[in-house]
Amino acid sequence: MSLDAIIQREFGRLQQDRTIYLNSAATGPLPERARRVAIEQADMRAEPWRYGPDVQFRTLDRSRELIAQLIGAAPQEIALMVNTSYGLNLAARSLPFKKGDVVVASDRDFPANIYPWMALARDTGIDFRVVPCAGRLFDEEALLAAIEQPGVKALVVSWVSFESGMQLDLQRLGEACRARNIWFVVDAIQGLGPLTLDVSRTPIDILSCGTQKWLLSPWGTGFAYVRKELVRTLEPTQVSWMAVEGSDDFTQLLNYRLQYWDDARRFEMVSLPYQDFSVMNAALEVIHEAGPVVVAARIRELTRHIIEWAQRHHGMQLVTPSDDHHRAGIVAVIPPDPRAASARLTARGVSHSLREGAIRLSPHFFTPVQHLETALGVLSE
Ligand SMILES: Cc1ncc(COP(=O)(O)O)c(C=O)c1O
Repeated sequence: MSLDAIIQREFGRLQQDRTIYLNSAATGPLPERARRVAIEQADMRAEPWRYGPDVQFRTLDRSRELIAQLIGAAPQEIALMVNTSYGLNLAARSLPFKKGDVVVASDRDFPANIYPWMALARDTGIDFRVVPCAGRLFDEEALLAAIEQPGVKALVVSWVSFESGMQLDLQRLGEACRARNIWFVVDAIQGLGPLTLDVSRTPIDILSCGTQKWLLSPWGTGFAYVRKELVRTLEPTQVSWMAVEGSDDFTQLLNYRLQYWDDARRFEMVSLPYQDFSVMNAALEVIHEAGPVVVAARIRELTRHIIEWAQRHHGMQLVTPSDDHHRAGIVAVIPPDPRAASARLTARGVSHSLREGAIRLSPHFFTPVQHLETALGVLSE
């Protein structure tokens, strides 16, 4: 089926002119297939005898499989999580840091990448260092210089900035970390979807990603990837009753053997929202059907359109780097009066975000070019 046919089938309601949705960096819409699964799931949940452990386990197995396929991981490296923050806290609390170890992050990163480390510094005495940005942009060179300092044990970054839309080069940072034996922790929520990733080639130790934005899934779904060599060496700090071997046999739960699964299920906090993961599976199937590379390419074309428009418009400050390798699905611009521009967009039915004084536009692969034209027209007024 062609991409346009998939878009018509799955996102028909977003093709109409009533609402112009340029806000997938905030919340991604459910594809039609996922919406239907959500309804079926509610029906099944109203009759729980249809929703036994076999269905629950099958759902989660499928989730790990679909995610693994998306990022080039093995399903055993995927722990299902209810948001991005959980996986970032997993990194902060499970990696064996000791007092004085240095953790490096970037200034202006989303708070989900900052607070867990501030709390860790307060609780354990690690040295949490925030590297200044170059203006509003992550400073990749400064991050690379910072990890050269003695005592650095981890680098923690967002793949793509929620604010500027800048993309960091994970390959470059990951290789630099690996060469120095430094853990590389990545928040992928603003990257995966507009960009593709293959963790079998890009050295990452822990990657966390909610699927509620670019991966078009319900709130309460997400995952952490933990590199397989690391899985067995890390202790879960929050211990679920299903973190241990044999816990899927509900006929004998009372043998109390604290022997963790030797895969990433040891980090999962069961019970998980099975209904929501079923819906996520349907959404990921749509992305796989369209093709992650095709999805990313379409988003790149749309964002390029906005960039070129901003470059032509005097008085419109483009925050996002203009070259394809340094951005993803977010374009941030600062018009002369951002609040007034935001109010104008809202009044005309253009869903967008106002972040740190900039207008943030985030089209997805289903966004009609005409919608962009309309939104940019409103911004130009
Ligand atoms: C970079 C980044 N990380 C994390 C989040 C959200 O974290 P969580 O999935 O825990 O709500 C967002 C957006 O809300 C984000 O932009």
